[in-house]
Amino acid sequence: MTKKHILITGSTDGIGKLLVYRLAKDGHHLYLHGRNQEKLKNLKDELLRINDQIEIQLLVIDLSNLSEIENLVSDFLTKVKQLDVIVNNAGVYKSAKPLNADGLDMRYAVNFLAPVIMTYPLISLLKNSSDPRIINLSSAAQAPVDLHVLRGDRSDSERSTYAQSKLALTMWTMALSEEFKDTTVTAVNPGSLLNTRMVSEAFGHHWSPAEKGSDLLYELSVGEKYKGVTGKYFDNDRGSFGPAHPDANDQDKIKKLMDETRKILDRIN
Ligand SMILES: NC(=O)c1ccc[n+]([C@@H]2O[C@H](COP(=O)([O-])OP(=O)(O)OC[C@H]3O[C@@H](n4cnc5c(N)ncnc54)[C@H](OP(=O)(O)O)[C@@H]3O)[C@@H](O)[C@H]2O)c1
Repeated sequence: MTKKHILITGSTDGIGKLLVYRLAKDGHHLYLHGRNQEKLKNLKDELLRINDQIEIQLLVIDLSNLSEIENLVSDFLTKVKQLDVIVNNAGVYKSAKPLNADGLDMRYAVNFLAPVIMTYPLISLLKNSSDPRIINLSSAAQAPVDLHVLRGDRSDSERSTYAQSKLALTMWTMALSEEFKDTTVTAVNPGSLLNTRMVSEAFGHHWSPAEKGSDLLYELSVGEKYKGVTGKYFDNDRGSFGPAHPDANDQDKIKKLMDETRKILDRIN
C-alpha cells in the first residue's frame, strides 16, 4: 500500500482517533491535529507503540480561536513538504461557551469557519499529490444557514446552529470541488448517533458503534472504492452517496454564504 501523508483534525477523540489508529497500522505519515498538547502527545506515544516505523507530527490549534489559525497553519507549512489527504473532522455540538472570542457561535466557528480558514493554505501542498483528497465531516443534521446567526448578530439553539454549521460545511464542500477539480472533495455524514463523546454529551444514547464512522473515513481517505468521486455527499445512514439538503447545490445560496464568510474572515483577521 502506498504510504500517504494525512492530516486529521480532531484526532484526539471519537471517530478521528479511531481513524488514526487504523492509518497508523498501515504506516501512513500522520499529521495529528488537536487542541490539547498533552492529549496529542499521549496519542502519538500510543500510535508509536502500535507502529514504531511511522512518522507523526503534531499540530496544536484551538479551532475556536479563528484569528490564530492562519499563523499556526503557515508555521506548519514551513515544516511540511507533502500532503495527500485532509480530514476536516474536528467538531463541536455542546459547548460550555456559546460564543467564541469574536462573538461568533461556537459551532459555526469550529465546524465551518475553522475548516475554511485552515484548508485553503494547505491546498498548495495537496497539489503535489497524485491522489489529493479533502474530506469534510458533515452530518444528517443539516438546516438552512441563517446569515444573521453566522455573522453573530442573532443567536439560536445549539441544535439549530450545529445543523446550520454542517449544511454550511456541505455547501462549501460543493464549491471547493468546483474550485479544485483535481482534488477529490467529499462531504460525509459518518452515521447518525455514533458512540462518541459528542453524542453521549448531546443525546445520552447512541445508535451505532463509532467504528461505523471511522471505517468509512478510512475508506474515503486511503481506499480505492470511492477514489475520484468528487463534489458529493456520502450519507452513511444509507451506506452510499446520496442527496444532501437541497441548499448544498443551490448556487445562489452558496455564493451568499461564501461572500458572507469572506466578510467575517476579513473582519476577524
Ligand atoms: N458521532 C456522530 O454520531 C456524528 C454524526 C454526524 C457527524 N459527526 C461529526 O463527526 C466529527 C467527529 O465527531 P465525534 O463524534 O468523533 O466527536 P468527539 O468524540 O467529540 O471528537 C471531537 C474531536 O474534535 C476536537 N475538537 C472539538 N472542539 C475543538 C476545538 N475548538 N479545537 C480543536 N479541536 C476541537 C476534539 O478535541 P478534544 O479531544 O480536545 O476534545 C475531538 O478530538 C464531528 O465533526 C461531528 O460533528 C459525528
